[in-house]
Amino acid sequence: MHPGTAAGPGTARRARPPSLAVCPSTHAEAPTGGRTVVLGVTGGIAAYKAVEVCRRLVDAGVHVAPVLTRDATRFVGEVTFSALASEPAHTSLWGGGEVIPHTRLGRQADLVVVAPATARLIGLYAAGISSDLLTATLIATRAPVLVCPAMHGEMWEHPAVQDNVARLAARGVHFVGPENGRLAGGDEGPGRMADPAAIVSAALALLENLPAVGPERNREDLAGVRIVVSAGGTREPIDPVRFIANRSTGKQGHALAAAAHARGADVVLVTAAGVAVPAGVSAEHVETVAEMEEAVVRHAQAADVVVMAAAVADFRPKTPHAEKIHKRDGVPEIVLEPAPDILAELSRLRRDGQVLVGFAAETAGGDDLVERARAKLAAKGADVVVANDVREPGAGFGHDTNAVVVVDAAGGVEWVPLSSKVEVSHRVLDKVVGLRARRGM
Ligand code: C5P
Repeated sequence: MHPGTAAGPGTARRARPPSLAVCPSTHAEAPTGGRTVVLGVTGGIAAYKAVEVCRRLVDAGVHVAPVLTRDATRFVGEVTFSALASEPAHTSLWGGGEVIPHTRLGRQADLVVVAPATARLIGLYAAGISSDLLTATLIATRAPVLVCPAMHGEMWEHPAVQDNVARLAARGVHFVGPENGRLAGGDEGPGRMADPAAIVSAALALLENLPAVGPERNREDLAGVRIVVSAGGTREPIDPVRFIANRSTGKQGHALAAAAHARGADVVLVTAAGVAVPAGVSAEHVETVAEMEEAVVRHAQAADVVVMAAAVADFRPKTPHAEKIHKRDGVPEIVLEPAPDILAELSRLRRDGQVLVGFAAETAGGDDLVERARAKLAAKGADVVVANDVREPGAGFGHDTNAVVVVDAAGGVEWVPLSSKVEVSHRVLDKVVGLRARRGM
């Protein structure tokens, strides 16, 4: 079991990119207003994936200071990180002309990411033992810390490791992964490090939720507000091995949940996505429209705001086959039926004052997009529809960025240019806060 803020095995956790200042990719000083990530790398086979984490963070405009443990350098060369990061890799408390590098790194960090984090590192950190530059930096820093465990399933499941993770999570340390999957040596199971893209999204989301980042917002303007967010694309079974799905990854919905939590809301995330559940958010995992409908309607009964960011199937196989359909039986005829429209149902069941937000993924732009959003608003009885043109580069499915128009029932039309999904989330939440204020809430 995965504790606290951490994502459990087989679950990913996650979020979104930058309104961050871009800084040069090699050996530059961190620019004023830029963000510094200390990237700790420990000695696990997944260390090679930390190279990708480093590169993606730099691409996102983050100043990356790599700190490698001695064993990490057995897996990946120091030179690789020095070449890709924003400053040369640090490998030791001693030498390098600096007497106390850990305090400087700890102070400079806006975020410390440890990827991969071995059982040893997690144990030392939980126990408060500083035995090398990375553990010293972790104990010296007051910045948020994101730990990305990677180890064999047996090690991950060991009570000692789980206790250490629980202790760290209870202290507010964030976790991404591990996931189920193929491990070193060919084994399968929990313990595989989260995908570099998921780690970077989680890191950027943590950076963006720092009070000083982005437009000044009242970080408590949703305090105590109960928000249900749906996310991800549903899967409708054809038979036990096949399903009808869509391209949604859940990134926007999960970013919304993270942003709402950062503004003080009590957030329930009903998700059909495998990406990381943001820290502090309680999540229910679902797969089909029927499961999503049941969970969302149940949670909505006590919610002040429901945001349907999920890409819910509009059609589903009428009668899923109980057994696998075989080729030898010929091409099957799959009869579809309309799926229940959850948003429309929520609008019928709506509590007094409840705010309903829908999403619309469209293949239209400009005025046409606004028209479609307005039509959806009316058809579904929502208060707000957030529409995007899926054809636009960098926007919509799978991206860490989005470009949307936010249309409300009072006639408001607000364009949000290509921004991180966290920033888009805040703009949607600004709209929700405004609507609630108009209703005297
Ligand atoms: O009609 P369309 O699927 O484009 O509407 C999108 C909006 O409606 C999204 O907010 C989505 O979550 C919601 N929806 C729903 N139930 C469905 C289909 C979509 O709640 N079956």
